[in-house]
Amino acid sequence: MLNKGLFPAAGYGTRFLPATKAMPKEMLPIVNKPLIQYGVEEAIEAGLTQIGFVSGRGKRAIEDHFDISYELEHQIAGGDKEMLLQDIRDVIDQCTFSYTRQVEMKGLGHAILTGETLIGDEPFAVILADDLCTNSDKGVLKQMVGLFNEYQCSIVAIEEVPPDQTASYGIIEGKEIQDGLFKVSNMIEKPAPEDAPTNLAIIGRYILTPDIFDIIRTVKPGADGEIQITDAICEQARKRMVLAYKFKGRRFDCGSLEGYVEATNYVYQKQHQISVE
Ligand code: G1P
Repeated sequence: MLNKGLFPAAGYGTRFLPATKAMPKEMLPIVNKPLIQYGVEEAIEAGLTQIGFVSGRGKRAIEDHFDISYELEHQIAGGDKEMLLQDIRDVIDQCTFSYTRQVEMKGLGHAILTGETLIGDEPFAVILADDLCTNSDKGVLKQMVGLFNEYQCSIVAIEEVPPDQTASYGIIEGKEIQDGLFKVSNMIEKPAPEDAPTNLAIIGRYILTPDIFDIIRTVKPGADGEIQITDAICEQARKRMVLAYKFKGRRFDCGSLEGYVEATNYVYQKQHQISVE
């Protein structure tokens, strides 16, 4: 049964300084909702209601966000602002939240391994909140859960990126077994364009089977000297089937200023029913 979603959220968000000096980057708002709440709502839509955060120093605001604020609720009760808290109340009602801290920053693979204590011996999803995903129909995680139920193996979400941008992503190589679904044969973390086998880039949505934890423990530091989840999943693909799925929808890279502004405009226009392409 797949019902756990893990959110690595220990990174510093240096690209957004000074906004992220005293505030976690995951709490930056896209219009009026923090980035991380979009990710949690996508997880809930996919049936994942046991939410785990791998957090770190300076991330207390995330815990406070996914909790009741009695003074505030009392202040606005019965007024016209009360409805502004409805979405977050619904999120809190539907989920459980657990936290563990990544004490040292040793890469995404290391962050996910730190989350093992919250996950145990079960398949789980990993959501990188920096990647904001939208779709008019099913969300990306829901699409992936459907595939997991069919194939029972690890799945990464991918999209095509311009060939000169491969050094910003994990890149997969594989055989297309059905429209938009690839059986992974190789994965490389942040290859230079000349070393990239394809332009199929991993985006921040994964479903992983729990054998990944033992594999991460054996993985040596890779790109940027960090323990890379891409290297661990590549190793997993050598032992058993791993799929890469070209998701339906749109993804904004909210880890970059440009993507963040684009997402903000997109969400604002959607909220105000201004036509968007
Ligand atoms: C991480 C992963 C990378 C993936 C990317 C998606 O990189 O290591 O494989 O393509 O997320 O956003 P980061 O963006 O943390 O450098």
